[in-house]
Amino acid sequence: MKKIIFTLPGNELLANSIRTKINAVAGEFITRQFPDGESYVRVLANVSKREVIIICTLHQPNDKIFPLFFLSKTLKDLGATKITLVAPYLAYMRQDKKFNSGESVTSEYFAKFISSFADELITIDPHLHRRHSMSEIYSIPCKVLHASGLISNYIKEKIKNPLLIGPDSESEQWVSEVAKDANAPFIILQKERSGDTDVKVTIPQVENYKDYTPVLVDDIISTAHTMMETVGHLKKAGMKAPVCIGVHAVFAGNAFEELKNSGIDRIVTCNTIQHVSNGIDISDLLIKKPDKG
Ligand code: R5P
Repeated sequence: MKKIIFTLPGNELLANSIRTKINAVAGEFITRQFPDGESYVRVLANVSKREVIIICTLHQPNDKIFPLFFLSKTLKDLGATKITLVAPYLAYMRQDKKFNSGESVTSEYFAKFISSFADELITIDPHLHRRHSMSEIYSIPCKVLHASGLISNYIKEKIKNPLLIGPDSESEQWVSEVAKDANAPFIILQKERSGDTDVKVTIPQVENYKDYTPVLVDDIISTAHTMMETVGHLKKAGMKAPVCIGVHAVFAGNAFEELKNSGIDRIVTCNTIQHVSNGIDISDLLIKKPDKG
């Protein structure tokens, strides 16, 4: 029997591509907002005794989570036997500890909530940070996929003489992997964040790399302050205009325009979040057999 895929608004391009590649059918449903902001969901497809897939990337998650929750609950009520949530970008991963007393460790609560209505989660490069595995917070099976191979291929094919630059020590593990597969050197920056938009970055010796094209690689570009701060230092050091590559194009507020106008060569992201900067297609990753997280 063909797989049935339900697509939440904003995920159409990726979902259509996956559906075509795996010859699945679109799960018909309606979702909209009442004038007072509440969500309406109606499932039209027959899902009785079927395993279903929901595609819903989770940037700006607060508006998405209720329609997703209502859809999942309705599908189960209508007899769906298993719900696999494909959330290429997974939200609420960064607040993973209390920095100040009384703070909510939202990554834990969010994980519990998702685990209460989905049976399986598939995601790409979740921001694990201080955690080692998704199973520390998610009680459902999670499949974690990595975009690093696709990023390496992009760099190999499209960038001449690349020097990869990772924003902080946490990024070293995966930036070094991207660099190895792209046959390129890499350096890791020292980053200090003292507020949401207050980021200080220092760059180790770049003098040796004047002829290279700097390629900034990060998992998330949100306010873009991490990248812009780095771009400023690279400019001062007389380096070429950098290429900025992010897995997840979160781009809060005017971040995209600000980064675009900061003296860079180009911005390229993976299509885990639908955005004009998408240049690396992750749909093949999602249809391949993934590693367990
Ligand atoms: C943080 O640890 C992440 O890897 C990114 O460096 C961070 O989320 C980027 O945020 P922003 O674009 O707001 O500087």
